[in-house]
Amino acid sequence: MCLIYIFGALVITSGVFCQGTAALQPAVRDLFVVVGSSVKIPCTDGEEKGVEWRFNSSVLVSSPVISIQNASLKDQGIYTCQKQTGDVVQSVSLHLGYPPSPPHVHCWSPSYPKRAICSWTLTSDPILPTQYIATYRNFSDPVSSARQCQKWGDQDRQCALEELEIFAREPTLINITAVNALGSATQIQPFIFEQIVKPDPPENVSGIIMPGRKVSVQWSPPHTWPDPVNFLLKYKVRFHWGKPETARTLGPYESNKMVLSGLVAGRTYYIQISAKDILDDGQSSEWSAPIHITIPTILYLK
Ligand SMILES: *[C@@H]1O[C@H](CO)[C@@H](O)[C@H](O)[C@H]1NC(C)=O
Ligand SMILES: *[C@@H]1O[C@H](CO)[C@@H](O)[C@H](O)[C@H]1NC(C)=O
Ligand SMILES: *[C@@H]1O[C@H](CO)[C@@H](O)[C@H](O)[C@H]1NC(C)=O
Ligand SMILES: *[C@@H]1O[C@H](CO)[C@@H](O)[C@H](O)[C@H]1NC(C)=O
Ligand SMILES: *[C@@H]1O[C@H](CO)[C@@H](O)[C@H](O)[C@H]1NC(C)=O
Repeated sequence: MCLIYIFGALVITSGVFCQGTAALQPAVRDLFVVVGSSVKIPCTDGEEKGVEWRFNSSVLVSSPVISIQNASLKDQGIYTCQKQTGDVVQSVSLHLGYPPSPPHVHCWSPSYPKRAICSWTLTSDPILPTQYIATYRNFSDPVSSARQCQKWGDQDRQCALEELEIFAREPTLINITAVNALGSATQIQPFIFEQIVKPDPPENVSGIIMPGRKVSVQWSPPHTWPDPVNFLLKYKVRFHWGKPETARTLGPYESNKMVLSGLVAGRTYYIQISAKDILDDGQSSEWSAPIHITIPTILYLK
């Protein structure tokens, strides 16, 4: 529906693709068309003589009907039909694009059991502005009980699911529906909360050189993990000395520190930590950014 203000009278018209702009001239009507389709735009309903269509203000065709085959992006612009007197009969802004494809949805929980996050992408760019409706519900609950998935972070296509049931017997369904002027597409994805747990990497990794060519490594749980006391994490430690093929992985450790021993003087070691839910739910985090530490050839002890 659009509201057009003409000569002091408020005219309300309706039309699926209509978005009015207030003006004394007829409002520019938005017309959305799929790339590659054919478009016919009559100037008036009747057969009015002596009208012509202009494209972006240049003369295009002296005909009451504009006809475009196999529309492409270069046909986008403002089409104006006017009488020879210069009176504008109508203006159409032609927009080309595609209806959205069903989104690809990926959900994970870096903040179990507080929230899960879902993000999504479209396989092809619909070109036109596209909005997303994101809702979630229990598998056997009615569609009407679905809750809004709130936008999360500064990303456009990411939302947070809160107050999910833990150890639920049935999956949660997330419904991501992409909508634009040419259509909509829905992707429904089921998941079990515990299976999508994936902590963020541990933080504040540090290493202290100790006598005997050892390094004491410490770290903090990721700050996004809401309750490391009641929902414990376990950790793996990976280290190598410059060549990735020398990497070794140790653990899991249930504490936030461990000691690397048997190191070689003069070598620089790169150390990374990953976290996983202690019950083995879901996946391990990515590795933390490596810290490096060089074992001195001579160790001066105080
Ligand atoms: C439509 O246009 C595209 C690109 O401009 C071209 O590749 C395609 O062959 C055309 N299709 C038809 C049916 O003319
Ligand atoms: C027509 O105008 C639109 C914007 O109003 C512009 O994007 C488009 O490139 C123009 N096309 C031509 C062929 O001038
Ligand atoms: C799913 O059901 C549980 C138990 O009835 C309820 O606590 C939870 O809020 C429901 N989840 C959603 C998303 O409606
Ligand atoms: C998915 O969401 C869309 C938009 O809110 C809604 O129209 C549709 O009924 C939903 N489908 C299911 C199966 O939940
Ligand atoms: C990491 O260290 C900084 C500075 O010492 C501290 O403010 C922050 O809380 C630590 N992060 C965690 C997750 O403990």
